[in-house]
Amino acid sequence: MTHLPEIPEIVVLDFGGQTAHLIARRFRDLGHYARLVPGDAPLERWYRSLTKAIVLSGSQHSVYDNGAPRPDAAIHALGLPILGICYGAQYLNSHFGGRVGASTTREFGPARVQVHQRHPYLVGVPRSFMSWMSHGDSIQRLAPSAHEVAGSANGLPAMIDFTDRCAVGLQFHPEVTHTEHGSAILANFAKSAGLTVGWNMSRYLADLRGQLREVVATRSVLQLVSGGVDSAVSAALLLDAHGADQVHLMYIDTGLMRSGETEAVVELLQALGARNVHVIDASRQFLSALAGVSDPERKRRIIGDTFIQVQQEAIADNLPTGYLLAQGTLYTDMVESGQGASRSGDTIKTHHNVGSPLVRQKREAGELVEPLAQLYKDEVRRLGRELGLADNQLRRHPFPGPGLAVRVLGEVTAQRCDILRAADRLFIDALHQAQLYDRIWQAFAVLLPVRSVGVTGDRRSYGEVIALRAISSEDGMTADVFEFPAGFLRELSAAICNALPEVSRVVYDYSGKPPATIEWE
Ligand code: XMP
Repeated sequence: MTHLPEIPEIVVLDFGGQTAHLIARRFRDLGHYARLVPGDAPLERWYRSLTKAIVLSGSQHSVYDNGAPRPDAAIHALGLPILGICYGAQYLNSHFGGRVGASTTREFGPARVQVHQRHPYLVGVPRSFMSWMSHGDSIQRLAPSAHEVAGSANGLPAMIDFTDRCAVGLQFHPEVTHTEHGSAILANFAKSAGLTVGWNMSRYLADLRGQLREVVATRSVLQLVSGGVDSAVSAALLLDAHGADQVHLMYIDTGLMRSGETEAVVELLQALGARNVHVIDASRQFLSALAGVSDPERKRRIIGDTFIQVQQEAIADNLPTGYLLAQGTLYTDMVESGQGASRSGDTIKTHHNVGSPLVRQKREAGELVEPLAQLYKDEVRRLGRELGLADNQLRRHPFPGPGLAVRVLGEVTAQRCDILRAADRLFIDALHQAQLYDRIWQAFAVLLPVRSVGVTGDRRSYGEVIALRAISSEDGMTADVFEFPAGFLRELSAAICNALPEVSRVVYDYSGKPPATIEWE
């Protein structure tokens, strides 16, 4: 799946920063085609005549680390505009002869930027704005001929122009939505590079369709469907490109699904016009494999392995040999498993659909198709809309592959899953009733591994604790806590405790991402 569209492009060199892919994605939102490539790849591997601008991403490395990733130095001879972001800016400064070092003033999170002078990349940007920063190193001496265009409230350089070098460095992250005017800065950069707007989702769909037909040809292709947006869009895409005979859709009921999930999935597949639908009930297998296990990473591995085992048996029973495996893996899943373009990001969680042995084996055999691997959640929704999927299907909140197992903290049992399922249902129904569901990016209940004392009637109880989580986000990479209208949580908490005698307490999770992740495990 390497076919590239024939339009001018921005290349983002990925040095492993968690938000690197967001840069490419922001440009695509702005109507420019942007491509992410490994940051230290030799120029000839990625450069083409359609490359019109280069962006250097952030990184978890320090520029002065041994083995810190660096771009091919030949980029500086191309005469193309270069934008360095965070680590990228620090690399530019040290490459051009300045000094970067560990800073005593660490800037993490919101930071005010003060603009000192006009700049073409700051057209339409006020003289003072909030940015989002995440750096422990800082630029300590500017490179000769560089000048500071803007600084942070702590007096550190925030934007530097490397005069005559065709390069600009930003210490903050314009790709993160928490940076005010970040998109305007990226749009100005693209405009200054001579790029015109010409990229959109229907063009992307046409490209994808063509690529899929080339890769899949006449083979059978299997897509596992979970009921979530990603696998639904991937399934719809496969049906659109190949028709119902070639496409097999398999749903494995792990017993870790939300309430009403199985019925909803079957209905969806019928609506998509699928003919080869395989529904497998494996809840007993999953729950017995998870018995006695509390460690989050072990749980994920067990689920991944059981999944593959169940899947293999079901495949042997239902599919012809030589089939291809399709997956609705998103870019977020790849990044958080340390498998983004740089492949040097730290692994934050093992997402079972990225790193499983079967998937690796299929990938190595060239039998894995991941049509959504370049996209973020909201881009997938837009693609789904292009494919004619129903809006309520596309607006469903994301649901993790390991299901309720990562929301029942500690040991997963059928009984604890039932409690969580019931609490989650009450939460989601209340959100729909209050017309809040669509304003929230993801909401769910979590069953905590602690008990708490309560009082019901005149009796002391010692019951379960439910945590509620609701966040706003654009892509799941960063998240803000959703603020509920007054009274909503109080009423919901009472409703949950009244409906579920096992529960004595309901708490609301007030953590953003970072520092917390969205799921608790
Ligand atoms: P975190 O918890 O990593 O979640 O901040 C980011 C988004 O990813 C979802 N998530 C997963 N999705 N397999 C998936 O398909 C997984 O193993 C997995 N873990 C987390 C999570 O629900 C959120 O939307």
